[in-house]
Amino acid sequence: MNLLCPICGFQLNQRERQFVCPQNHSFDMARQGYVNLLTVQQKHSLNPGDTREQVLSRREFLEAGYYAPILDALTAEAKRLGISGQILDVGCGEGYYSARLADALGAELTGLDISKEAVRWAAAKYKGKQWLCATAAHIPVADGSADLLTSLFALTLPEEFHRVLKPGGCYFQVLAAEDHLLGLKGIIYDRLHFKEKNTVPELPGFELVRSVPIRFAFTVEGQQVRNLFAMTPHVFRIGKEGAERLRKTEVLTDTASCVLNVFRRT
Ligand SMILES: C[S@@+](CC[C@H](N)C(=O)[O-])C[C@H]1O[C@@H](n2cnc3c(N)ncnc32)[C@H](O)[C@@H]1O
Ligand SMILES: [Zn+2]
Repeated sequence: MNLLCPICGFQLNQRERQFVCPQNHSFDMARQGYVNLLTVQQKHSLNPGDTREQVLSRREFLEAGYYAPILDALTAEAKRLGISGQILDVGCGEGYYSARLADALGAELTGLDISKEAVRWAAAKYKGKQWLCATAAHIPVADGSADLLTSLFALTLPEEFHRVLKPGGCYFQVLAAEDHLLGLKGIIYDRLHFKEKNTVPELPGFELVRSVPIRFAFTVEGQQVRNLFAMTPHVFRIGKEGAERLRKTEVLTDTASCVLNVFRRT
């Protein structure tokens, strides 16, 4: 995918392991094979995005295959729609889903995440793809670049997604549903609060093609219980007693519940 300079917006040209724009702003490809296109102005903290611990936990959990039904749903929808060409995964994490999806479709992949730790792992593991440390708020690719944009358990920015998609391109959004991981929540909270959640949002510039519920049970043991917990936003909310109950949990059978919304750019 053609990259844009995050400073001036002109196109970047690759010269071996360096990307340079006509104004001579240059960006090196890191040893692991990703390019850091996040400017200091775009960073709101020293190390934005998911931390090393979150990244490692998620990587270990996902690679064990517990969430393979989500990958299967993404692949089935993409095949049904005959998607090929260029995929852009926003908030790609370690690239578990999009690297496999791109291979299954024979498509090219660009994955971007604001967390350097995440893209570092993605680039080290999945070769032959383009990995960027960048912000979803200013995606450093040209207008109309992507045939498919994915944002999986990550943020949605309709205006920017609309800009980078080709006319008629698709956007796959995966959101956790209200009843996602109730078993885990039952351990870490004294009481469960149900909040109404709109899992099929209206997005300006997009029409909804279909909304696919994805629900499946799975069992984790030992360290994978802790990995699952570390992947969730509950790490920031857990109290002392909840943490103690979680520490004593050796086996957890739970249900993942999410929604895959398929949008088309209008
Ligand atoms: C819950 S994780 C999901 C990761 C991956 N899509 C997956 O499902 O395995 C959300 C990801 O969004 C990234 N993120 C957060 N804010 C971002 C931003 N402004 N731009 C790009 N990525 C961002 C985080 O670093 C994190 O890797
Ligand atoms: Zn420039």
